[in-house]
Amino acid sequence: MSIPAGPVRVPAQVLRLARELGAPGEPEPHLTPVWRNGLGGLTFRVTTGKQLATGNGPRVHFLKHGPLDPETSMAQEAKRLAWAAPHTPVPRVVSHGKDTTHEWLITEALDGLSAVDPRWLAAPETAARAVGQGLRALHDALPTENCPFDWSVHARLTNAAQRGIDVPPALRDAPPIDRLVVCHGDACVPNTLLDDAGHPSGHVDLGALGLGDFWADLAVASMSTEWNYGPGYEATLIEAYGVEPDREQLAYYRALWNAT
Ligand SMILES: Nc1ncnc2c1ncn2[C@@H]1O[C@H](COP(=O)(O)OP(=O)(O)O)[C@@H](O)[C@H]1O
Ligand SMILES: [Mg+2]
Repeated sequence: MSIPAGPVRVPAQVLRLARELGAPGEPEPHLTPVWRNGLGGLTFRVTTGKQLATGNGPRVHFLKHGPLDPETSMAQEAKRLAWAAPHTPVPRVVSHGKDTTHEWLITEALDGLSAVDPRWLAAPETAARAVGQGLRALHDALPTENCPFDWSVHARLTNAAQRGIDVPPALRDAPPIDRLVVCHGDACVPNTLLDDAGHPSGHVDLGALGLGDFWADLAVASMSTEWNYGPGYEATLIEAYGVEPDREQLAYYRALWNAT
């Protein structure tokens, strides 16, 4: 999972969908690959609009396209984005679809750069702090009362079993719920966007959003600092979230993430 370094072949389906974002008579859309995920799926930044040549007033969308994912679907992601949008900055859904092998999701661009953009890889302390603050803001903003989505340990174990994953017996009993929130569900650092000043500006990739203990997200967000920034930033992120680390909860939810 990374920002593509070399040239990327644009799938025919992606080109077709990107062209549909333009109006008749407009120049060809401009596609920039921004992300390749673990399944081989690609996300493109798509710029369309009459003023493309002069740089004035283009429309910017993100188009995510990839193989059907047994864990979650882009249709599920679209539902969750629509539910969360009134409460917190997440992308507005334009459309989504699938065929027999692939699925896609088109959203309006949010302002900000991913916390793993080269700009923020070069300032990991600032980025880790922003991801922690952003996660706290997300948890504080999303209402648990009317959330129809479940990301509890039970739901995750059921989903894993359906995918044929055998979770070690030691992980089948979760620690008691500390604070129930609406979890992001994939709070890895690339999924937080930062503004120019290094403050959190939004979240993407909400296909697994649902009710769960806040430690489930915080464990993964802090663990992912090491994958993206190297050692030394876990404590920064947890402190920015605003809690004292609970080693047992962190260990449990990291192991559950890695197992499922
Ligand atoms: N609407 C959007 N606005 C801004 N950036 C976006 C948007 N959608 C996706 N991105 C960028 O594309 C990347 C990949 O999108 P994401 O939904 O996280 O795909 P994946 O499920 O493959 O991780 C994100 O990390 C973010 O940088
Ligand atoms: Mg992502």
